[in-house]
Amino acid sequence: MEHHFLRLEDFTGKQLQSLVDRTLREKPLYLAGEGPRTLEGKSLAMLFEKASLRTRVSFQVAMTQLGGTGIYLDQAGVGIDVREPAKDIARVLAHMCDGIMARTFSHHAVEQLAAYSSVPVVNGLTDYCHPCQAMADLTTVQEHFGDLAGRTLAFIGDGNNVARSLMVACAKLGVHFVLACPEGYELEEEFWTRISASHPQTTCSVTHDPAQAVAQADVIYTDTWTSMGQEEEKQKRLAAFSAFQVNEALLAAAPDHAIVLHCLPAYRGSEISEGVMETHADVIFTEADNRLHFQRTLLSALMADGGIE
Ligand code: CP
Ligand code: NVA
Repeated sequence: MEHHFLRLEDFTGKQLQSLVDRTLREKPLYLAGEGPRTLEGKSLAMLFEKASLRTRVSFQVAMTQLGGTGIYLDQAGVGIDVREPAKDIARVLAHMCDGIMARTFSHHAVEQLAAYSSVPVVNGLTDYCHPCQAMADLTTVQEHFGDLAGRTLAFIGDGNNVARSLMVACAKLGVHFVLACPEGYELEEEFWTRISASHPQTTCSVTHDPAQAVAQADVIYTDTWTSMGQEEEKQKRLAAFSAFQVNEALLAAAPDHAIVLHCLPAYRGSEISEGVMETHADVIFTEADNRLHFQRTLLSALMADGGIE
């Protein structure tokens, strides 16, 4: 039984698949206003060291729909590891609240929160990974195609936090993963080898040719070339990634049935063209909606059911 949700490596494929299935089963209930209020009277502390639209609103609304409350705390007010250490914040919040969600720069900060918290801690994005995003993404893929096993997801762009969580989610849920990135922007060798070696039923491959990556893809995924905290590298990255835009020319090399996903925010004219963004807007904004639906399932599992079995 897992009590925290920090990285997808900590879960089995069966556990992750059951969260996806539950999300899709319960989504219509909550859309109809008939979902169970499993967290009546409970509070979730939501700590943000970085900016957010989707993560902040989806966790807050999820708590409301479950009958509880979300409390937004920003870095200017709380000062994680500036005003006080994460381990002290964890103990204060764990005594007053029933769960903690945190978005931090360092992954070590969420690990520290979890180590010192007696209540569940959820990773709302670190420099290392973005597990809630990847789970909402694969929920969207299953919702769209009706299945996951045997599909292929091509990630076009930076080997970053989102790519890292997607690769693990894909490996565990039977989806083949292809990363197309410029040289020097791959996921680290140790991570790549560990994840691919422990999930032999799926293939994980890396290429520097985006057209080759999308040729067999059911899902074409992209994210910003410059993540939060990398702003000083922006010019260098714009130049390095210029051949990796998801645009009409690239989609011409993909199967007709392929969908385009983007975790958002999207930088049109950089990682995605305006035309592709708008043509695929329905599924991209369904993907954003699924942040709410997945995280409601997650909070209910962690805070009402006692953990992820
Ligand atoms: N995709 C995502 O996490 O969005 P926010 O940064 O707006 O929360
Ligand atoms: N890779 C991006 C994701 C934003 C949701 C970042 O970390 O800024």
